[in-house]
Amino acid sequence: MIIIGSDHGGYELKEFLKSWLEKRNMPYIDCGCDGSSVDYPDIAETVCRKVLKEPENNKGVLVCGTGIGVSVSANKIPGIRAALCTDYYSAKYTRKHNDTNVICLGGRTIGAELAAELLDIWLNTAFDGGRHALRVEKIKKLEEKPEDE
Ligand code: RB5
Repeated sequence: MIIIGSDHGGYELKEFLKSWLEKRNMPYIDCGCDGSSVDYPDIAETVCRKVLKEPENNKGVLVCGTGIGVSVSANKIPGIRAALCTDYYSAKYTRKHNDTNVICLGGRTIGAELAAELLDIWLNTAFDGGRHALRVEKIKKLEEKPEDE
């Protein structure tokens, strides 16, 4: 399942991506916002907690004005690997190498058609595993490391 959410800065792009998903018969859960002003960490948390309910099957899509606020927020949540994507290569390789489970997009920084292309390649690229799995395990260990280690 795709879990999607935005703040007011990403609302228009979120609505565009929803119709893009609908045209492809891809189900999603919309966690808001409805266009009114909200704080991006709240939307990031709602989307990410839902993604983590079924981490094998769920992926998150977060949009704010730049995509930065939601990505910084999402990456504070253990188990979330969120990638802010503005180019095709990153959208592809952040799945292959980082096994990211959330894509972050900027509603005020990239065009809607590019955002949809980035979402498309991100959703349709599998994790390579192998040596990259070892690196992702190291990311997971960082979440557990005490400060003074
Ligand atoms: C909201 O005005 C804006 O700060 C937000 O959408 C985002 O760009 C933050 O990173």
